[in-house]
Amino acid sequence: MLNTVSLEGRDLLRIGDLSRDEAEAILDLAVELREQPKQPLLAGATLGLYFAKHSTRTRVSFSAGMAQLGGVAIPLAPEELQLSRGESLPDTARALSGYLDALAVRTHGHAELEAWAQWASIPVINALTADEHPCQALADAMTMRDRIGSLEGVRVAWVGDGSNVLVSLAALGRLLGYDVVAACPPGYDAEGVTTVVDAREAVEGADVVVTDTWISMGQEHERVQRLLDLEPYRVDRELLALASDDAFVMHCLPAHPGEEITAEVLYGDRSAIWDEAENRLHVQKALLVQLLRPA
Ligand code: CP
Ligand code: NVA
Repeated sequence: MLNTVSLEGRDLLRIGDLSRDEAEAILDLAVELREQPKQPLLAGATLGLYFAKHSTRTRVSFSAGMAQLGGVAIPLAPEELQLSRGESLPDTARALSGYLDALAVRTHGHAELEAWAQWASIPVINALTADEHPCQALADAMTMRDRIGSLEGVRVAWVGDGSNVLVSLAALGRLLGYDVVAACPPGYDAEGVTTVVDAREAVEGADVVVTDTWISMGQEHERVQRLLDLEPYRVDRELLALASDDAFVMHCLPAHPGEEITAEVLYGDRSAIWDEAENRLHVQKALLVQLLRPA
């Protein structure tokens, strides 16, 4: 078992919390765990899942992953906790730290995630905030590495909204050596990411084309304006034809066929999207092992 790098006791709130070696160790271990999925590396361990937003993949991959490692995941629906009746976040975090070995948090503001990390004495994992989605970026890097080999110099074109997923994907690229160019309408770009306005310019010659929903959780009230502004940024067959001959497409899901991606591309033979979804399980198991086991 490759486990020479340990993140024992740390939090993963942003991709920037990881070094290159640490990110690579997670990807290496994820590949090993994919080959031998049921090893009791975390026997008896407990992971809390505090999810204040919807989730299918993240919730289930963390739960299944803990079961495969011999541990257990405990769903913590916000409305069922005393938190929703006024108990403070610090008191909740203190109490939960007595029962759990780690806590995965999906919520709106990044500052709330930071508060969980501040008050909990156990590792806190960002399971998505409006700012970042680091577990998704790790699965995306694993998917690219599986298909291409080395990530050094790989050209990634992002098309559409400059979302939380883009921020984490680009940050991980700065660690692992792939370049992300984003095509976003004015006002929809992400800070610190190379951005162009024309989707064709970003996709021309790219090795990977990535997109995300045009309307992230919490932005539902902007739906009409977003559909108008993002209409020229749909990943379809014509746009994909500009990418390299071997290029493939990624999408974190959930997808909205006919909006940010056509059904033809989503379900087509250049889609890596379903492998990408599965890889969430493998990278999160690797992350949990790194956070909860000494090297
Ligand atoms: N990609 C992703 O995080 O999916 P869920 O919202 O279903 O967890
Ligand atoms: N950007 C999307 C990702 C969903 C997994 C959102 O935040 O809703």
